[in-house]
Amino acid sequence: MKERLVSMFRIFLTLSLGAIMPLLMLAQAPFQITHQPYLQALDETSVSILWTTNKTAISWVELAPDDGSHFYQKERPKYFAVRHGFKVKDTLHHVRLEGLQPGTTYRYRVFSQEVKSHEWVTVEYGRVAATQVYRKEPLSFTTVDPAATTISFAMINDIHGNNELMKKLLGQIEFAENDLVFFNGDMASHFLGEGQVFGSFMDTATHVFASTHPMYYARGNHETRGPFAERFADYFPTKSGQLYYLLRRGPICFVVLDAGEDKPDADMEYSGIVAFDEYRTQQAEWLEAAMKRPEYTEAPFKVVICHMPPFGGWHGEVEVAEKFVPLLNEAGAHLMLSGHLHRHINRQPDPEGHRFPVLINANTSVVKATADSKHLHIEVIDQDGKVIENITINSSAKR
Ligand SMILES: [Fe+2]
Repeated sequence: MKERLVSMFRIFLTLSLGAIMPLLMLAQAPFQITHQPYLQALDETSVSILWTTNKTAISWVELAPDDGSHFYQKERPKYFAVRHGFKVKDTLHHVRLEGLQPGTTYRYRVFSQEVKSHEWVTVEYGRVAATQVYRKEPLSFTTVDPAATTISFAMINDIHGNNELMKKLLGQIEFAENDLVFFNGDMASHFLGEGQVFGSFMDTATHVFASTHPMYYARGNHETRGPFAERFADYFPTKSGQLYYLLRRGPICFVVLDAGEDKPDADMEYSGIVAFDEYRTQQAEWLEAAMKRPEYTEAPFKVVICHMPPFGGWHGEVEVAEKFVPLLNEAGAHLMLSGHLHRHINRQPDPEGHRFPVLINANTSVVKATADSKHLHIEVIDQDGKVIENITINSSAKR
């Protein structure tokens, strides 16, 4: 009996330590930034900057003009992450900068200060962590110039957590000459947790460009999978709060759509937790109204970014064809850029279906495009830099 009790106590001790050790290690780890800052929802006068820390903190961004002065020359204005009048205590930090000058470069530094406890009216703060500006250039961003008459953009998709492949594809982009990057879905195979999402693609993206150059995200079907999927918009916020939106940049109005899942909502794979049919119906209602706005109607080019194409025969693709394509036809879309199928397809306009070309980018290539008011040039480039497709669309082309 005694031996049995000792053995049970040993098992209890082992299990308890297994559960407690990670917490002890976290408690002892120095306060630090765990995922570096990246830009979201950048436009003419505002931008979101997000990053994470290993412990709960309040956070702020310090902003400096791009005037050649050292960041330490003087105290820089602070912009805190706030909500309902409080500085936000969290491990995910989101500072929204508003009222910026259009077409202007700003330098920035992010700060977080650990909140050790908050009891009654007393808050105990811990250490401060920040990005470096001492022997390192500060991070920076440039707001959108509404007077721009040209635009360049790049798109990758279906990376599924392959960081090495993504590095090669991003290596084909000259970021100094590229205005924006689209992630057109399935960047990870599932959303299980913060570390898994950043480890799958976002740490690499941040390291390569996303701290200093804007990225916009069209959600793919794989970003909807896993218990962390419902947090997607917290990490990749848009200005409107929706995951579908218009983006006018120079001569192009981008229509970013969220095609949802690929199988019927009732499929056993979704365990009864999704409602994408209704979501796509609501999105179509928004789309019809949005494409009547001047930012769309007056744009020389209308380019749709939608992870799933309107063909292939699966339920999600059928929904794209039935709910979105008739509206896009009516509103004169020039092109749809998709992914999802993991192979390169340049599908010509179909008089019975999509009356605009649909270009599907493979998971091993990058789309690079430039446009002025008359011509939209698109190149599809593989991971070794070889051009595998070259398309030019004229804005006056009959559709
Ligand atoms: Fe997909």
